[in-house]
Amino acid sequence: MIRISGIFSGVESDILRNLGASPIKKLGREFLLVRIKDPAVLQHSAAAKFVRWNIPVHHSWPCCPRDIPGFIEKAAQALLRKLGQSRPQTIMAGPLDPDESNGYYRALASNLRGRMLQVFSPQMSGVMDAAAQDCQAPTLFCLVGSQGLFCGLQSPAASRGFYPGGTKFIRQNAPGTISRAGAKIAEALHQLQLDRPLPAPGSHWLELGASPGGMTAELLARDYRVTAVDKAPLDKRLDHAPGLRFVLAKADTFLPPADDVYDAILSDMNGHAAESIRHVIRFAKDLRPHGLVVFTLKLTGAATFIAINDIEKRVLDHAADAGLRVFSRTHLTYNRREFTFLFEPEPVDSVPPQST
Ligand SMILES: C[S@@+](CC[C@H](N)C(=O)[O-])C[C@H]1O[C@@H](n2cnc3c(N)ncnc32)[C@H](O)[C@@H]1O
Repeated sequence: MIRISGIFSGVESDILRNLGASPIKKLGREFLLVRIKDPAVLQHSAAAKFVRWNIPVHHSWPCCPRDIPGFIEKAAQALLRKLGQSRPQTIMAGPLDPDESNGYYRALASNLRGRMLQVFSPQMSGVMDAAAQDCQAPTLFCLVGSQGLFCGLQSPAASRGFYPGGTKFIRQNAPGTISRAGAKIAEALHQLQLDRPLPAPGSHWLELGASPGGMTAELLARDYRVTAVDKAPLDKRLDHAPGLRFVLAKADTFLPPADDVYDAILSDMNGHAAESIRHVIRFAKDLRPHGLVVFTLKLTGAATFIAINDIEKRVLDHAADAGLRVFSRTHLTYNRREFTFLFEPEPVDSVPPQST
């Protein structure tokens, strides 16, 4: 079962072809039941970045749960019989259609999870919150909606998310929010934990394309220090914010102070992605050896599968030449027509010497 954002519905058939996936059934608005010969393509193929989240389906009950008396108890007991011996670290359940307005399936998923945690408790290593899961240990993920119940056992890292469907709900319009981009970096940092720990509080971020400052505010709220660069000003609410240094400049002309060292670089610059990554690369020499790059890959003007992959290839080629290794490529819930890529510097002894 895979999830592909509705934003990419126009290239869905190309994505499936590239994955070698035969569609079986659409579930909700964004999930698809597919048959895939080689599941490794979900991690490595050109189309993998379009797949927000996935699970192998180990148990399905196509039905209309509303019409089934005692649905929760029947589902919980059937899953215990079938998957109880596989000792999941925990159980996560969610609605097949998160936007469903009446919340019926959200409540059903929550009640199903509650009952399953009870019936599985002797078989389970523990009950835990989503973010406390061991990324590499199997979780029993369940999705429920008007088309039935679909469940699979897989680690959060292989599924590419801690939550069923991959979405961590983040309010985008909370009072005081400067821009919706704050949700993007919050989600990117949540996603990062599938692969490596968060930068420690106090870490120094270089942020390129910071205005009006939604991401800046989110980083500062996590006790990071931020050098923010943009040709446009930041929101007034960030004036004199502790930990913030703002430079009103184009990334092209910004010269960092000689003693600046960054733990992380964040780029959310609009414009051509190949141009944006060149700016990141220019500052990557000031990145610590185990530093992090969070890069929003904008799909400006690219409408087809081939055009999107061309942009990606140019970005990855430039990054690789500069010794940056991509370790995560995701279309996050709060991304629009863009992806969030995460890079880290290659260990120094693995970068081939540059010819002169
Ligand atoms: C999508 S907005 C960034 C939103 C921001 N991340 C936030 O959290 O509110 C893109 C920004 O990139 C900036 N930008 C684009 N190219 C730039 C460049 N060459 N140098 C500096 N800023 C640039 C634009 O001025 C714009 O403010």
